[in-house]
Amino acid sequence: MNFELNETQKMIKETARQFAQDELAATADERDEKELFPHEQIKKLGDLGFMGMMVPEQYGGANLDALSYAIAMEEISAVDASCGVIMSVNNSLVCYGLTNYGSEEQKQKFLIPLATGKKLGAFALSEPEAGSDATNQHTTATRDGDFYLLNGIKNWITNGINADYVIVIAQTDPTKGHKGISAFIVEKGMPGFSHGKKERKLGIRSSDTVSLTFENVKIPIANRIGEEGFGFKFAMMTLEGGRIGIAAQALGIAKGCLDAALKYSKARKAFDKPISELQAIQFKLADMATDIEAARLLVYQAAVLKDSGKPYGKEAAMAKLWASKIAVKCALEAIQIHGGYGYVREYNVERYLRDAKITEIYEGTSEIQRIVISRAMLKD
Ligand code: CAA
Repeated sequence: MNFELNETQKMIKETARQFAQDELAATADERDEKELFPHEQIKKLGDLGFMGMMVPEQYGGANLDALSYAIAMEEISAVDASCGVIMSVNNSLVCYGLTNYGSEEQKQKFLIPLATGKKLGAFALSEPEAGSDATNQHTTATRDGDFYLLNGIKNWITNGINADYVIVIAQTDPTKGHKGISAFIVEKGMPGFSHGKKERKLGIRSSDTVSLTFENVKIPIANRIGEEGFGFKFAMMTLEGGRIGIAAQALGIAKGCLDAALKYSKARKAFDKPISELQAIQFKLADMATDIEAARLLVYQAAVLKDSGKPYGKEAAMAKLWASKIAVKCALEAIQIHGGYGYVREYNVERYLRDAKITEIYEGTSEIQRIVISRAMLKD
């Protein structure tokens, strides 16, 4: 497998890196501290084509491959993981699903504004009793003439306050288990659709996470994605690609930690020399760099498989499992290298630790990734 970046991918990397430095770096800590949604920054990401990276041009997207998307996610998340997750949900869970499984009418009405960054999307699968056990959906969509009546509660919805369109997974026939689950597009402002209070989170604090409530929300049939009963497979296939995005986010957080640790260890003196000259620090830096390189290869492998139309579910799960684990590990090591300065907010490595932890939880916990990997192996 050739992982040498082509000219377009190199350009994407440089554009994303520059954007992160110019538009995110100076304000990321303040947004984290005050839990401020990055409205302006997300709009600029839309102008760059980063909110619909894998969407064909005819639907307003940048028509790039999954590897370019992963590269951009890494660079953005290396500076601001909250922006990373907002971008990731819009690209992988919303635009990807609509591009591949939406009707032409849905693409014209919803995908174009989402891909151009004029509108923002969210993806609502999780429920109070359906996190890892995603088939256990209690939200119902009951057919009523040319509409469905949607009722239920969704939990932990990233972009839930700011999204204009939400893809909602719901039971249309509870007697059929996962084969009775369908996917719908719910539009902001539909009567009966509301959100709860913003969750106070450990990390990714400038992204918004809320519960969503649906009380007899009237959804036109035209807003159903695919056939009735397609919703669970739709969610699983969408999440498979989403895991590459979150793996790239975790990779970016780890890279951000290494960048900070390298910079600090060269500047900080102890025992009359920069601490980077101490072997205890060098070993940490070497381990971080090696873990990161392994994560990058796993992320690239999953993305390249996806781009070549081959199965990639196991590899995406491996990439997410490893990258999220080393993001937490690198954040802890970066704090250790910074000593007391790492534990306080003067340097932002403590933010990286708080941001890293969620990558082991959302879009499938690390335990779910292990289930996906082992099932794929045992099936072979
Ligand atoms: N592609 C296509 N079909 C798939 C699939 C995939 N990747 N994975 C499963 N399916 C199909 C199966 O083939 C099966 O269909 P058939 O019966 O027709 O064969 C059906 O779906 C049910 O599959 P399983 O029997 O494997 O289902 P399960 O109940 O054992 O669950 C699971 C499997 C992997 C544990 C799944 O429930 C899962 O992924 N859970 C985690 C959910 C998750 O990631 N939630 C995150 C929420 S979104 C989020 O976090 C976004 C955010 O805010 C950032």
